[in-house]
Amino acid sequence: MTDSQQEPGPQEQVQAASKAFEQEFERFVRFTDEVIELTGLTLEQAVEEQRALAEVRTRHLGKKSDFAATKKLIGKVPADQRAAFGQLVQSVESQIVSQLDAAESTLKSFIEIQRINRESIDVTLPGRRPRYGHRHPITLLRERIEDIFVSLGYAIEDGREIETDFYNFTALNIPDNHPARGSADTFYTTDNFALRSQTSTVQIHAMQRRGVPVRMIAPGRVFRRDTPDPTHNPMFYQVEGLCVDRGITMAHLKGTVAEFLRRMFGPDTVTRFRPSYFPFTEPSAEFDFSCFKCKGSGCRICKNSGWIELGGSGMVHPNVLRTVGVDPQEYSGFAFGLGIDRMAALMYNLDDIRLLFENDVRFLEQFE
Ligand code: DAH
Repeated sequence: MTDSQQEPGPQEQVQAASKAFEQEFERFVRFTDEVIELTGLTLEQAVEEQRALAEVRTRHLGKKSDFAATKKLIGKVPADQRAAFGQLVQSVESQIVSQLDAAESTLKSFIEIQRINRESIDVTLPGRRPRYGHRHPITLLRERIEDIFVSLGYAIEDGREIETDFYNFTALNIPDNHPARGSADTFYTTDNFALRSQTSTVQIHAMQRRGVPVRMIAPGRVFRRDTPDPTHNPMFYQVEGLCVDRGITMAHLKGTVAEFLRRMFGPDTVTRFRPSYFPFTEPSAEFDFSCFKCKGSGCRICKNSGWIELGGSGMVHPNVLRTVGVDPQEYSGFAFGLGIDRMAALMYNLDDIRLLFENDVRFLEQFE
């Protein structure tokens, strides 16, 4: 270096710029020998080095760099030294450039390879087996019930879960003062709308839409203001059945329910009807079937009675037919309704019906 008092000569300035570069480039020298893998660099570190290297390039070769300043000196050196000086500048520049390029290209290909490796799949790894889902026990049972009724010529109807007073009650011949209309029994959403408390509502929709004759079942969710306990849940599932045609009698009702239960629980299943009352049927009956476990001799499931109570039924009330514009003189029909969850609880021997709705896979995955 020259004395600080004295302005350094052009050659000295070129050497100073070159030296300053060499000093900064020192940390990148290891990338020019092409065995970058031995540096133990991670992908992220390599990217960072690449960025730092680009900065060094601008700092030492950019327009405002000391080296760029030396180029402007070419015109100022005496004519006889100009060619030699120009060559010096050029050779220093090409040295700097080639070192930068070498490091840059090594880093670049290292980064590319690392990225490809990271994204590639090791085909020798054992596959991850997807966990199979399966249907909910209520769905399984609903599908069995549907299959039986479809084979008997019934259509499947889909109802709505929010209904007006008309479909919930009035059209089903339920009087104005009936307790089921009260907010203690039924969940009202807004005025005049309530979560349906039975699938019987679908009888009305089905007759309005399809007219008669009609044969349909309607499985679905219903809601009642019950406190949850082992045998109650405020939301549960029912299946409604309706058959209306000319000349339908109680014998058809009994034959249909008996056949359904035989297909469900085996050919020996016996069905019995007990007189009952429902506003939308007259006469009305509840039906029981002989216990599928003990075949009627008495066990824990049937509480030693030999019978299992299943649902309600009856001949469609003339008022219901009239409401949907069907002449009760010409047409008659039967209807029935039963609880799917109750049936599931019996069949799977569940001591708490709420298990069906807690969505605990350890419970649910037992039913295939
Ligand atoms: N809807 C009744 C209930 O939820 C069940 C029922 C009884 C349905 C008699 C019917 C019927 O279609 O005819 O308790």
